[in-house]
Amino acid sequence: MQDYLTLEHKLEQYAPQIQKFRQEFPALNNFLIYFDNAATSLRPQKVLDAFIHGFQLAGNVERSLHTEELTTLVKQGQEALYNYIFPQASACPQDFLHLTYTQNTTEALNLLAPTLGQFWYKQQQGQKPQKYYLLVAQSNHHANILPWLKLAQTYNFLEIKTIPLKNNLTLDLDFLRDFCQKHAQQLLLITLSSVDNVNGLIHPIGEIKSILEQFSPHTWLALDNAQGSCFNHIYLQKNQLQDNWPADFIVGSLHKMFGLTGIGYLTISQRIAQLNKQSQDLELLAKFFTLKEEIEQSSQQTKSNNTLEHLNLPLNNHRLEHQWVGGGFVKSVDLETANYNLQPTNPFLIAGTPNINSLVTVKANIDWLNSLPLEDFYSYTHLLQQYFISKLAQLPQVADFSRSLNIVQDLANKTQDVVILPCTGHHILINIEDGLDIDLGMFLAQHNISARVGKHCAYPYHDFLGLDSTLRFSLAPFNTKEEVDYTINLIAQFLNDNLD
Ligand SMILES: Cc1ncc(COP(=O)(O)O)c(C=O)c1O
Repeated sequence: MQDYLTLEHKLEQYAPQIQKFRQEFPALNNFLIYFDNAATSLRPQKVLDAFIHGFQLAGNVERSLHTEELTTLVKQGQEALYNYIFPQASACPQDFLHLTYTQNTTEALNLLAPTLGQFWYKQQQGQKPQKYYLLVAQSNHHANILPWLKLAQTYNFLEIKTIPLKNNLTLDLDFLRDFCQKHAQQLLLITLSSVDNVNGLIHPIGEIKSILEQFSPHTWLALDNAQGSCFNHIYLQKNQLQDNWPADFIVGSLHKMFGLTGIGYLTISQRIAQLNKQSQDLELLAKFFTLKEEIEQSSQQTKSNNTLEHLNLPLNNHRLEHQWVGGGFVKSVDLETANYNLQPTNPFLIAGTPNINSLVTVKANIDWLNSLPLEDFYSYTHLLQQYFISKLAQLPQVADFSRSLNIVQDLANKTQDVVILPCTGHHILINIEDGLDIDLGMFLAQHNISARVGKHCAYPYHDFLGLDSTLRFSLAPFNTKEEVDYTINLIAQFLNDNLD
């Protein structure tokens, strides 16, 4: 841990830039100290302006000629977002079929889970019954746990297994390697976060991908990028994933990227898009020739020379099916035969009118993000986090376990009432005996300081720690040293008043 005086000096160098940046956020005019950025970020004026502009445009998207500007704006936003998530991808595919808008990360995962479940269900029908596994990280947000639990309740051939946490709160990659080696033929999917919401830990996605490539290349990887989307470039660099698709499925929310609520995204990798395209091609072939033999032959050929064959289950012309159908992307509807055909190969496109009011802001939102010195801001915010921890650690009631290598043991042996838990990036996580962290959260709220107290939608994580609650401060580049000093003084006052 760097000395706080050195940190103070380094922070001062950023001060003019940060003061200027703060002026972009109308919410900060209300004497608010906002340390809840991991939950939802504040919106800059540029995004609010784009929102107002959207209201001046009439109509629906992709419906009529008179709504061209609206449609263009929404499509440009989709392209900008795609390029932001995949900065090194050659170009955004013109049809944008690799990125679907959802309402948020939770909706994206609730769309993904049943789509995959249905696909696997069809694949394993007629095969020798056996269990197939989904690996879910113990540190996941509930949004990336519950949809998979629900799926396993629906299909009893699916079983959930957990990638456990180690005592230093990182994921147990030895367990993962071992599991992949033993169960490569039954492991369908691994799903985890790029960055944990509780303590900001960055997961080594590059290493996880290498394990998969080596031992279980057919297993799909789903990445919950809710916490990682904003500083996406930096996490990709840290994982050395610049010129690669980080995962088969990536989900996130724009309200954690200084954007509006009501916009999430779900991306699919080339191999998933290909899977659907391939089965669509086979289907077209089937319609054309109506010759069973030919289809089977073609199916055999495609099978033998591609890597899409999932585990040892036959593709059987299956594809990921749309869960929600209706208006949009329809090719034909035949009431006589009670049949319909849909347009695109991306199975996750959502039928009906999207959330246009928010979607018109995506372009401005991403352009604004691209205009920021994100690497400097990332470093600044991390310095501020270090400063926060070092000031907090000076209080007599506080034990600093922020770098603990065995937090469970340290918690069991602790002698102080307040502990700083392992936390990285822009997070500070503390616990106080007897639920006093909840009282402290309320006390700070009375002083216009927003922090988050509770289990942060991560019950299994808190079960591992054996804690009922934690208090989380999550910083953004508009936060300042003065805000931290003010907050530390209040925390000191609270602890002096409430602890013996
Ligand atoms: C890691 C992670 N996943 C999922 C979510 C859910 O995001 P949303 O509420 O936008 O669906 C959150 C929200 O905090 C999160 O931090």
